[in-house]
Amino acid sequence: MDLINVMRQGGGIMDEDSWNLRYSEALSGLASRIDAVEGIITAYNTNIDAIYRVRPSIVEDAVKPYSREVLDKIRDPPRRILDEKDLLAGLILCMREGLGEEWLILDPKVSDRISEYFIRDELRMGGQAGNMANALASLGVPLIIPHVVQLPEMQADLFIDGGRIQVPQASDGEIVLVPVRDAVRPDDEALIHHVFEFSKGGEFLMEGSPIEIPRDNRFIATYDDYNTRLIIDPSFRDGVEIAGRVDGAILAGYHFLREDCIERIEASLEQIREWRRLNPRLFIHLELGCTPNPRVRSEVVGKVFPLVDSVGLNEHELVEVMGVLKPSHRINLWDLRLGETAPTIYEAARILSCLTAVGRLTVHTKDYSLRIVRGRPGIQPERELHSLLSGSAVAASYAAHGRHMGLDAAASGLKGIPISPVGIREFNDLAESLPLKVREFFRANGYAKVGDAWLIFSVNRDVEDPATTTGLGDSMTAAMVLADASA
Ligand code: GLC
Repeated sequence: MDLINVMRQGGGIMDEDSWNLRYSEALSGLASRIDAVEGIITAYNTNIDAIYRVRPSIVEDAVKPYSREVLDKIRDPPRRILDEKDLLAGLILCMREGLGEEWLILDPKVSDRISEYFIRDELRMGGQAGNMANALASLGVPLIIPHVVQLPEMQADLFIDGGRIQVPQASDGEIVLVPVRDAVRPDDEALIHHVFEFSKGGEFLMEGSPIEIPRDNRFIATYDDYNTRLIIDPSFRDGVEIAGRVDGAILAGYHFLREDCIERIEASLEQIREWRRLNPRLFIHLELGCTPNPRVRSEVVGKVFPLVDSVGLNEHELVEVMGVLKPSHRINLWDLRLGETAPTIYEAARILSCLTAVGRLTVHTKDYSLRIVRGRPGIQPERELHSLLSGSAVAASYAAHGRHMGLDAAASGLKGIPISPVGIREFNDLAESLPLKVREFFRANGYAKVGDAWLIFSVNRDVEDPATTTGLGDSMTAAMVLADASA
């Protein structure tokens, strides 16, 4: 029996070579199935990202006149922006902690004034729906239907061309699909979000104390009067038939819903139900996103979770969500002595998947992803692992190049991107924390059935000095859901 088979039956330990082998199996498996996919819907948020690569010295100068006030705000973050001080507080908080938050700008004048302080480096596609549409197009999906609430030419130009990205449009009393670049609505607004990307190692002084950036990440300041009210384009809403043309739908964009518009979730719930009625085999994934408002978070957990097959979130979002569950289940990962480690994250994810009965729950972190699958009798755990690895490979390729390179390039580029040593360490620690009878199997395979649910773990690639830190989660989700929907 060869080494790989021995490992799969529970005799070895997944080391760097075995992870590499699994990566290439995952990507070749996905490549062989793409032709069988008809299409994917991505909803709801599409916008334009203005990218600023932050130079720490500019932040140091900008904050000087109000550093005390900004420090107070950092201590008790408002998580919304009424003036420049709030903006700087959000940015410096994220830079200091290495966080990736998004705060809403409530006064459009603040948004307009940003260009007085910061010089924009580029304009890029933004929003989960927009980013995932481009990621899926580059992966070769034949039809992608994004929701684009405002479609001026500037927005349309940011979609990868090729005619495969199409949007519903009313024509002679019918709703038809039209290539996105032919569907421009010239009078629509350009919804520009401000994305501040910063790099690990940068340093600056604030009130005489040095601040060093611990990891690459970004802070997003958003003024957007459409996506934050979850306005649904009428043709996208009325064109229910689109659900019959696709295998999967990815939902996102609830995260920054304004509390005064919370009832608009209902229209989207109705849409999801209609899609299901029309296509009972539709695979629906919800990507949560950083959701500062606890009421919105509760609504999403209570109302959207029950309608979907799969939910994805990162470790910070997991903490946020645990905060709105029943008091007895609230856990704050940072309160636990273990801290933000794979065993703690697994424990929180296990509780969340149990309480919400979500079939697939995927938590992605920079160094690894873990997934819990329950109530799926025909589950093929190896396929689940392949989905996670496909997501991680495509995200690594996007991080390394700053643009979507397609599946072949993602596969060939892996050689130059090492497996994350932190991910391997966390994998071993998680294995150590599992019950004895499943531990060896998990170590040898990256998955195991623990109690009544499957646990699947993938180690990510470690991209040194990424070309971008925005949209990595979107690339990962797009490839992962494509793998899931094509299984
Ligand atoms: C949020 C932001 C958007 C950005 C995206 C990246 O949706 O609003 O501007 O492109 O996150 O994932």
